[in-house]
Amino acid sequence: MHIGIDFGTSYSAAAAIVDGELSLVRFGAAEQFRTAVFFPELVPDPDAFTLTPELEARLDVELRLARTRQREMAAAAAARGQAPPSRSEGELHREALRAVRRQWMEQQAREATASVASFQHALFGEEAVEGYLESGGGNLIESPKSMFGYRLDPQVRKVIVHIATHILEHIRLTASRQFGTPVRGAVIGRPVEFRSSMGAQGSAQAIEILREAAAVAGFDQVSFLEEPAAAAMHYHKSLDARQHALIVDIGGGTTDVAHAELGGGRAPHIARSWGLPKGGTDLDVNLSLRSFMPLLGKDSIRIPQHQFVEAASVHNLPKQREFRKQNYRLVAEPYGARLRALQEPGATTRLNQLAERSKIALSTSALHRAELDFIEPGLAAEAGSADFDAAIETFLGQLERTLATVRNDLAEAPASVFLTGGTSRSPQIKARVEACFPGIPLVQGDPSLGVVSGLAVAASEPAVPA
Ligand SMILES: Nc1ncnc2c1ncn2[C@@H]1O[C@H](COP(=O)(O)OP(=O)(O)OP(=O)(O)O)[C@@H](O)[C@H]1O
Ligand SMILES: [Mg+2]
Repeated sequence: MHIGIDFGTSYSAAAAIVDGELSLVRFGAAEQFRTAVFFPELVPDPDAFTLTPELEARLDVELRLARTRQREMAAAAAARGQAPPSRSEGELHREALRAVRRQWMEQQAREATASVASFQHALFGEEAVEGYLESGGGNLIESPKSMFGYRLDPQVRKVIVHIATHILEHIRLTASRQFGTPVRGAVIGRPVEFRSSMGAQGSAQAIEILREAAAVAGFDQVSFLEEPAAAAMHYHKSLDARQHALIVDIGGGTTDVAHAELGGGRAPHIARSWGLPKGGTDLDVNLSLRSFMPLLGKDSIRIPQHQFVEAASVHNLPKQREFRKQNYRLVAEPYGARLRALQEPGATTRLNQLAERSKIALSTSALHRAELDFIEPGLAAEAGSADFDAAIETFLGQLERTLATVRNDLAEAPASVFLTGGTSRSPQIKARVEACFPGIPLVQGDPSLGVVSGLAVAASEPAVPA
């Protein structure tokens, strides 16, 4: 059996067509789950390296080896009548320390790989976030999709593949149980452009990671379909007459646009697509910087401001690590204590959850209060419409520029604009899309399940798109 999988930045879902009907896979009581995994075991953290007595002993051995090598090289140089290599004891020590650290990292990675591969103890979705916050340890990985397109060293890449594998295995097993038959194939959604630090190469790496993970998770046949094309499939089924439509999917991590010929009983034809690698998670970071971080000293204390960005960027593990490494002992109170509280395990995740909740609340109400007791008893942040407007402005500008490019690229205006994705729930976003296509009917699809429904249709067809 083949299913459609929407591996979203924020939420994931799966579905299949069973006896001609769309059937969504249920995760507990829900039709989607937050794309998060919690491993109680530790994934290697290079910053956790400290010299234990055992590692001191290994360092001694490495140092002796380095000195021996140095003597041998000196003897060989002397035999050739050349000057002996001169390296200080300090340099030898650093070289030995590097070797020990490398061995330690490799060992940590082996242990982490073994524990991840065991597929035990992992929690998914909201349970993952809760498990992490309750245990105060282990590792929470939220929105791994945001990392697929980034430059990853081989060890980190391995960990990311394992995480994706876990999520896909979870989906495959849940679907197999629900449908009562082994699920072996999938059409997986992909953004037009993944969030990436390497341009188009990032998207290629992301697809490779998903392919590898899907194979290990037990899928024998996998193909990919651009997310807006999937959303279009669903819309397509509802159109009696053939038309040129524009699909706009504004999600957690990316904004995807497709121009398609749809409806009229013929197969849909996706003519062109555009991607903006920005979405709802960027709004959370902006709102956090605007409404929460000033309570932690942003704009009042003299520490480099990028440290607040690092603290707010929960989906960027290197940035989070940078923030945790800082020493705030000498920062003036009350900010020093608050920053130290934010460095505690789980605190940045909690703060980001509150930023997301505030963002959602502010899309329909004028004021929202977030309690920050975990930072300091009684501390609270109030955010209002002006904060929301400021937090969303950059994104609205980017969205407008992307849609202007789309308009310029099209020979004629689309017959309708189909809007989907969780971030499209915000009235400001909807208004901006409307303003970019004046006079053209705006059709709102299911913001959460449009893409997965289209993927299920694609998965049910004999020749799945490549
Ligand atoms: N009412 C709302 N106002 C603004 N944003 C909202 C609202 N409700 C949900 N969101 C945001 O929608 C985003 C999730 O949307 P969606 O489920 O479409 O993303 P995704 O498919 O996981 O991500 P992507 O497609 O980018 O990989 C989150 O950032 C969430 O905070
Ligand atoms: Mg999506």
